Amino acid sequence: MMKKNSVFVPALFMVFALIAAVSFSSAILGNKGSEPDEMATNKDDPPEQASGIAHAPPSLDDVPDGPLGKAILRGYELTNNTSEVLRAEASTVEDGEQRVNQLSCTSCHAGAGMDENSSSMVGVSAVYPMYIPRSGEIVTLEERINGCMVRSMDGEMFAEDDEDLDAMVAYLTYISEGIPVGADLPWRHRNTLDDLPTPSVDDGEALYNQSCIACHAGDGSGTGSNTGPALWGDGSFNDGAGIARMSKMAGYIQNNMPVGAENTLTDQEASDLAAFILSRDRPEWEHHDTDWPNGDGPSDIMTKERREQVQDGTIDWDEVLGK
Ligand code: HEC
Ligand code: HEC
Repeated sequence: MMKKNSVFVPALFMVFALIAAVSFSSAILGNKGSEPDEMATNKDDPPEQASGIAHAPPSLDDVPDGPLGKAILRGYELTNNTSEVLRAEASTVEDGEQRVNQLSCTSCHAGAGMDENSSSMVGVSAVYPMYIPRSGEIVTLEERINGCMVRSMDGEMFAEDDEDLDAMVAYLTYISEGIPVGADLPWRHRNTLDDLPTPSVDDGEALYNQSCIACHAGDGSGTGSNTGPALWGDGSFNDGAGIARMSKMAGYIQNNMPVGAENTLTDQEASDLAAFILSRDRPEWEHHDTDWPNGDGPSDIMTKERREQVQDGTIDWDEVLGK
């Protein structure tokens, strides 16, 4: 933990000071101001204590009878076994492969979005619609789901009137029960590691072969969407996905991998692993040019051009990492 705290504590302290200053001034100005217990204190504090908002999704055993309950359970299936369900129901094998890659939402949002540490989706129905800089516009929950469908799932969007999309929203609304509208969810956006050390792809490869291969396979194709999902290759996410950024991949790996020994990798190891994984071939996103229309895009997206630079030894990591 020391290794992480040394980086996180100063940054967190600044964030804390800023939050304190903002809520103090808004209190003076008579704005609605935050409750004192709403202020984030330390990453290691239990979030419930820090925010007063509990991460406590209801059990699927308590889903109501009737059409709504059916939709919630269908939404759970679609979230947890996305590719199995959608590919099995497609009219041809080719259509199924076009529709979705080999991942499930659970591949990245563990426990069908109910695992607090792994990009939890608890509360999303209370915070969308919201402004997303990557889109440069207000995005609804339906549109955000479709964003992961075309990027992380390297597939096709659900049509606006598709009942499966309604089912996913019904499920995400169910697991968000009790979360107030517009709440500041302490478990959001935790899987980001900024100020990454300059990576070594070779060290990343060696560590991968030692610690990751058992579940994710030597060629990165994985052992199953919920046992060890595809990390690169045709079955994996495309390079327009959030996790195709160095900061997000390294943060996700450090907080969640290897399963059973989470939070043991140093910043250097997480950076090495992220660089190795993101330098392998994967599907390309066709619309990089229209992302971040306001010019505030990040520098650490590992595009095809960058993958080739790693392979031919010309990559400038300082530029990628914004150093
Ligand atoms: C390859 C990894 C990956 C897969 C697979 C994936 N997502 Fe995501 N998703 C992400 C990342 C990364 C984020 C951004 C989270 C962050 O910044 O911390 C995200 C964000 C989201 C959000 C917004 C959460 C928020 O707090 O704003 C929703 C909703 C979402 N995903 C739904 C889905 C659904 C539904 C599926 C399955 C159809 C899915 N995702 C599959 C990686 C993935
Ligand atoms: C014991 C099995 C296991 C080991 C070992 C393991 N993983 Fe995973 N990995 C999983 C599972 C299961 C998931 C799906 C999410 C979850 O359930 O936490 C996952 C998800 C992921 C994801 C997000 C999904 C995707 O397709 O990109 C990444 C990235 C990842 N693992 C990287 C690693 C790295 C790097 C290592 C080695 C340091 C590692 N994993 C070791 C089982 C494992």
